[in-house]
Amino acid sequence: MERSSDILKIKLEQADRELYQKYAPLLVVNPDLNRKLVSFQGNKHESESRWCKYKEGFSSTLVRYIFDNTGIQSGRVLDPFSGSGTTLFTACDRGIDSVGIELLPSSAEMIEVRQFLRTSHREEITKKLRDFKNSRIWEQSGDRISFHYLKITQNAFPVETKQALERYLYEISVLSDRNLSRVLRFVLLCILESISYTRKDGQYLRWDWRSGRNVRKTKFDKGKILGFTEAIDRKIEEIYSDLLEKNGRSFADEIEAYKPGNLQLLKGSCLDIFPALESSSFDGLVTSPPYCNRYDYTRTYALELNLLGLGEEDIKNLRQTMLSCTVENREKENLNHKNSEYERAILSWQSHPLLNLIFEYLEQCREEKKLNNTGIPRMVQNYFKEMVMIIFTAFRILKQNAPFVMVNDNVRYQGVHIPVDLILSDFAKDAGLEIEKIWVLPRGKGNSSQQMGRHGREEIRKSVYVWRKLAIQE
Ligand SMILES: C[S@@+](CC[C@H](N)C(=O)[O-])C[C@H]1O[C@@H](n2cnc3c(N)ncnc32)[C@H](O)[C@@H]1O
Repeated sequence: MERSSDILKIKLEQADRELYQKYAPLLVVNPDLNRKLVSFQGNKHESESRWCKYKEGFSSTLVRYIFDNTGIQSGRVLDPFSGSGTTLFTACDRGIDSVGIELLPSSAEMIEVRQFLRTSHREEITKKLRDFKNSRIWEQSGDRISFHYLKITQNAFPVETKQALERYLYEISVLSDRNLSRVLRFVLLCILESISYTRKDGQYLRWDWRSGRNVRKTKFDKGKILGFTEAIDRKIEEIYSDLLEKNGRSFADEIEAYKPGNLQLLKGSCLDIFPALESSSFDGLVTSPPYCNRYDYTRTYALELNLLGLGEEDIKNLRQTMLSCTVENREKENLNHKNSEYERAILSWQSHPLLNLIFEYLEQCREEKKLNNTGIPRMVQNYFKEMVMIIFTAFRILKQNAPFVMVNDNVRYQGVHIPVDLILSDFAKDAGLEIEKIWVLPRGKGNSSQQMGRHGREEIRKSVYVWRKLAIQE
C-alpha cells in the first residue's frame, strides 16, 4: 500500500524523537566548543594553517582539545579525510605520529608541501623563497606557460593577472631546484582565490560581478582582488615568518625541544585504502568527513585542480570517487565486495529503521515531485552507505581503548531533520564501538535559506562524536 509523504513525515518525526530519547543521556552540550573552534575560523591566524584558506577544515585548537579530553597522548593517529591536514600536523607537533588519507589532489599537495617545508632546512628554503620573491622575475617580459581554463574556471582572473601567472609558471618551471619549484607552485596554489574573481562558497564557486560571468540580479562583490605580485609577496613573507618562528621565538632556539611525530599521507579514497590497513594499529582516529550537505569540493577547488593540471574528465571522475555528498554522485560499484567487513556494514545500513523511513520519505517526495533536486534521495542513501563502511573498518583498525572522534553536521531535506550524529552512532554501536558521548555545540546552525523559507527556521545540531573501542574484558 502506498503512503503519502505527509503520513511518512509524521512517522519519521516520531522515530526521530525516539532515537533522540535513546541518546539523550549521551548528548552533552559542551560550552568549550564553538563554531569558530570547529571551523577554519580558528585556524585563520594560526602559524602554517593560515597558508591555505581551507574553509572546510577544523582548527588545530579543536584537535588539541580532543587529544587532551579523549586521552590521545602518544602512538599513531589516523585521519581518513585529512583535508588540509589539521589533525596530522597537530599530532606531529605533539610528537604523535599520524597517517592521513586524502583524495583531493589540491589538499594532498597542501599537506605534502607543508610537510616538506617543515622538515627541510628552514633557513635555506626560506632564503631561496625570498630571493625568488625579490627578483620579481615574472614582472619582466619573457616566456610564458599557458594556463588553460576549464569550463568552470573560464576567465577567473583579470587579464593582467593571468599574464603574470603564466610568466610565473614559466619561471618556476625552469628552476633546476625541483623542490623550490614545487614550493613556489604551492605559493601560487595558496593565493589563487585571492587574485581571482571567485569566492569559495560550499556548493559552488561564486563569481564576482566584475568577471562578467553569471551576473545575477543581486550583484556579488567579493571586495579587493589582490594584484599578482602583491599576493605572492604576502604569501612568501607569511611562509617565511611561520617557518622561522615558533611560539613567538626563533625556530632555531626551539629546535632542541621540538621532536615532531612522523607524518605519512596516503593519496586516494579511504574507501579503497581502508580494507588494506592493518588491524589494531591506531591509537586514535580524529576526523571530519564531508557533510551530507551537497558541498562539492571538486567545484570549490576547481581553480586549484586546474592549476595542478586536472582536465574536465579528471574532475568528473574525481567527483564520483569522493564520498557521496553531492546530488551528482552515483552509487560506487563493487564497494561491498571488497571485504566481509563492508558486507557486515551494509547489513547495519540496510536494517536501520529511521534511515529506512528517511529513504522511503525522500523517494516518495521525489515521486510527488516535491524535491528541488531528484538526486537527493540517492545522495543521502549513498552517504550513509559509505559512512557505515568507514565506521566498521575503523573498529577493526583501532587499538583497544582508542577513541574515534568525528566532527559532523546534521542536515535537513524536504522539511525533515536527519540526525546524522545519532544514525552514525547506531552504526558505530553495531560495529562494536562504545558511544562515550556526543558533544553538541551550544549553538547549532540554521538550515539553508530555501529550507528556512519553506519549512521555518530550526537549528541543526552540530556535533563532535566521541566513540571508543573498549578493551575486551578477560
Ligand atoms: C571536511 S574536509 C576535512 C577537513 C580537515 N579536517 C581539515 O581540518 O582540513 C573533508 C575532506 O575529505 C576529503 N574526501 C572526500 N572524499 C574522500 C574519500 N573518498 N577519501 C579520502 N578523502 C576524501 C575531501 O577532499 C576533504 O578534503
